[in-house]
Amino acid sequence: MIFVTGRNKRAIEDHFDKAYEIENELAAKGKPALLDLVQSVLPRGCRCIYIRQSEPLGLGHAVLCAQPVVGDEPFAVILADDLVAASPPVMAQMAALHRREGCTILGVEEVPREQTGSYGIVSPETPDGLTRVKAIVEKPAPEDAPSTLAVIGRYVLSERIFHHLAACKPGRGGEIQLTDGISALLTEERVLAYRFSGRRYDCGSKLGYLKAMVELGLEHAEVGKDFAEYLRAQRPRI
Ligand code: G1P
Repeated sequence: MIFVTGRNKRAIEDHFDKAYEIENELAAKGKPALLDLVQSVLPRGCRCIYIRQSEPLGLGHAVLCAQPVVGDEPFAVILADDLVAASPPVMAQMAALHRREGCTILGVEEVPREQTGSYGIVSPETPDGLTRVKAIVEKPAPEDAPSTLAVIGRYVLSERIFHHLAACKPGRGGEIQLTDGISALLTEERVLAYRFSGRRYDCGSKLGYLKAMVELGLEHAEVGKDFAEYLRAQRPRI
């Protein structure tokens, strides 16, 4: 996993690092279940590489920062503020499609027209669940949006995206936009939009974050039942 992070985000590295002190203590105290929990923060065999994006020059620039590590092969991008609950996981769905189709795949979902200004919006060839992207535009106003099909933070990208991002001029908001890189990629390669199956939470917004906490909390194997009871008790306040 390659994390592109910025100033003041070192807590992410610490979170995924080995927690020697806690692990030693739990082992010494004979608490194997808790030890297992601490050690399972990452899938076994997974290595993390951290890259600093020193200036906030945009999502496209952040992706370009990872080029020296990704090299010359397709790769996936996950924007962590979009949380997707799905079974199989959305990235597994998209990786399988990529293996079959051999091209760039964008995770998309319908959004209300008044929200098009918050997303990359695609122009789909057909209304199917998997369809070719004819065009893509970053955060269009509702009246200019070619559709209401929004790209959410899941991408499987062809390595050619780096070539196009390197040539991108600052776009919307003065930033190097991933959307503009994909728009250039479209001129030479097939790009597919995939209406994934699953629920997405916009954890970059307070309300989206709270919805994720409540819904996933209710499904939590260990505390879900008690949490439901707690929520029921809150009803008179609503
Ligand atoms: C970014 C992308 C946008 C995409 C969105 C998904 O925007 O620029 O194209 O639709 O993520 O969450 P941001 O949310 O960073 O403003």
